[in-house]
Amino acid sequence: MPELLEAIVEEALSVSLFEIEDEATADTVGWQIDLLFRDPPDARALAAALAPACASVGARFGDIAVTRVAPDDWARTTELRLPPVRAGRFIVHGSHARDGLPADAVAIEVDAGLAFGSGEHATTQSCLFAIDRLARRRRFERVLDLGCGSGVLAIAAAKCWPARVLAVDNDPIAVRVASDNARLNGVGRSVRTLLSDGYLHPAVRRGRPFDLILANILADPLIELAPALRAHLAPGGRAVLSGLLDRQAEAVVAAHRRQGLRLLDRAQQGPWVALVLGSPARRGSRA
Ligand SMILES: C[S@@+](CC[C@H](N)C(=O)[O-])C[C@H]1O[C@@H](n2cnc3c(N)ncnc32)[C@H](O)[C@@H]1O
Repeated sequence: MPELLEAIVEEALSVSLFEIEDEATADTVGWQIDLLFRDPPDARALAAALAPACASVGARFGDIAVTRVAPDDWARTTELRLPPVRAGRFIVHGSHARDGLPADAVAIEVDAGLAFGSGEHATTQSCLFAIDRLARRRRFERVLDLGCGSGVLAIAAAKCWPARVLAVDNDPIAVRVASDNARLNGVGRSVRTLLSDGYLHPAVRRGRPFDLILANILADPLIELAPALRAHLAPGGRAVLSGLLDRQAEAVVAAHRRQGLRLLDRAQQGPWVALVLGSPARRGSRA
């Protein structure tokens, strides 16, 4: 990082980097950097530092806007920015929104933090819709949440069924957050959390076969992990796969079809999609 930029970043009270997505395709079309200073910064000096920093990583510097931030009630701002999210029977909410939740909803309390999954992302929502639809038809007893992030899907599963849920992530922070959230939501005894890269932890192998596997990761790892998913899924089991765009769905389905799984359902939220796949009840039979 150029020295001048380093000095700016050091001087700023906070630095936030936001990915700007194309609304239709979810492709990254740019980045927004928000810097918060105690005193108004010199916009020209900022531009002089940021332009070469962008050029050094092959990016084009856009423009700069300096605005005064009014004194704020941060708790209230968080409430407004993260209202409860309804997805099927579930309502995912932060601790600021415990009161007044609809009585018919299954509440999942997750505060926005260092682990992905406070409910506002379309991939989480489409998985929750898929779980909701599955729960109308059958019960599951052994569930694996692969890439659990905050644990939101594992908690949803544990609240739907009297199931044993194994929630794993390759990020130690997510594992800790998921464990705390499971306890906070009253399902700490049903949800076990583990640090595991994919299915590699021996406890994941020992826990198989799972009759439901939830995996909201990305299209490429899902494709790569398709044989392992097949090896861990019970005959007649179901898998909810997400983290993929509509245009990537066919490749993900094809990779799993090669493992004998069949597409049974899909839940779409904007360009993001969750796929529900089924494994055959017996070898050689249809899902
Ligand atoms: C998109 S977030 C999903 C979080 C949560 N399940 C949800 O639906 O909101 C993906 C999570 O998968 C984890 N992850 C990605 N690849 C993984 C892998 N190979 N093994 C385990 N976890 C993985 C990431 O660390 C991240 O927490």
